[in-house]
Amino acid sequence: MGIPQPAFYIFKCEQSAPPGMPKPSCVNDNTRDLFQHLGMKLMEKGLIATVQPIRTGCLNRCQQGPVMLVEPGHHMYVELTKEKIDRIIDEHIIGEKPVAEYLIAEEFWDVAITPAKMMKMAGK
Ligand code: FES
Repeated sequence: MGIPQPAFYIFKCEQSAPPGMPKPSCVNDNTRDLFQHLGMKLMEKGLIATVQPIRTGCLNRCQQGPVMLVEPGHHMYVELTKEKIDRIIDEHIIGEKPVAEYLIAEEFWDVAITPAKMMKMAGK
């Protein structure tokens, strides 16, 4: 038997904006410790070997931040808090049932455009 793949990757946006920047960002003084909280909770539950938390840059849903993307499944969670992260770990990661009420609204997360279609639209 080989080395098992992770069951989940969790991409947590860690983008911050300089003071005075009008655009919202996922990391500010109130949300700075969410990634650490995520990692600690996964560690406490003994999940770190099969669930890989990853710090990432902007995921392009800044207005709904803090955000994190759970793969597989393309599940985008928005307006995160520590309490929401705890519930996502319990119900989605362990229970394998996404927490629908914390997911991004469909109007902001429509069906993806395939790369081939995108190239066609761009005349490439
Ligand atoms: S700053 Fe987090 S999605 Fe853009």
